[in-house]
Amino acid sequence: MNLIKDILLDSNHLNKDGIRIHTDSELLEMKLSCKLAAETLDMIGDYVEPGVSTDKINSLCHEFMLDNGAKPATLGYRGFPKSCCISINHVVCHGIPGPKILKESDILNIDVTCILNGWFGDSSRMYIAGTTSKKASRLIEVTYNALLRGIEVVKPGNTFGDIGEAIQKYVESKKMSVVRDFCGHGVGRSFHSAPNVLHFGEKNTGSLLEPGMFFTIEPMVNLGKPDTKILSDNWTAVTRDKSLSAQFEHTVAVTNSGVEVLTLSPQDKFFPF
Ligand code: MF3
Ligand code: CO
Ligand code: CO
Repeated sequence: MNLIKDILLDSNHLNKDGIRIHTDSELLEMKLSCKLAAETLDMIGDYVEPGVSTDKINSLCHEFMLDNGAKPATLGYRGFPKSCCISINHVVCHGIPGPKILKESDILNIDVTCILNGWFGDSSRMYIAGTTSKKASRLIEVTYNALLRGIEVVKPGNTFGDIGEAIQKYVESKKMSVVRDFCGHGVGRSFHSAPNVLHFGEKNTGSLLEPGMFFTIEPMVNLGKPDTKILSDNWTAVTRDKSLSAQFEHTVAVTNSGVEVLTLSPQDKFFPF
């Protein structure tokens, strides 16, 4: 016979929807990995400027993670060849670093995932090479606010649908669109686990949020239509209508009282302007 408290303290506990519920000591370990992801994104900001190659940005992220005792989760993940994703302008996500040189006014998302002591910390932000247009700045602002709207409704008793609805309502009120083809995910001792965290949807639908859940919220927002396609490298996702796209990603934990954002910028550099 199991005591109820043993079930609650079981570090291997999945809830009825197959979502992992973590202990407080697991949260402490997870925080270290997420902090390193945030530090990596803080570090790389100083190097994003016209003339730099995305390969250079990739190497700097790679070295920084190794120097800090971590590994880049994306390297070799399902055949992904690099240590971060860099998605420029109309690239929605999963851009592969390479010889491409940043040019003045490019907007780009850099997405890093650290594996530190077995824990995955996942975050991404937008950066600007030099200065950009008003409409690109506006897209970045709306995408960041969309992430915040999603985070605001994270608390025990609310649902994953509440997160999706909050994000979608906000983005569409700004006459922009939410990408449907990619979503956030459970994260922790594995890179991608249950549930899928949709950035659109309806209130009061989907699984209930419970203390001890770890997941990402990572809305992708397009200036044009939401539709995407994958390029022939089998990774790079772009907007079908070639409109600009932006994304921000945080890893969060549900707590007894609400939410803790685990990938906040130690230097308060998460938002680029
Ligand atoms: N870090 C991405 C995410 O937010 C996943 C990248 S997988 C890769 O889930 F293979 F493209 F690197
Ligand atoms: Co993610
Ligand atoms: Co990511």
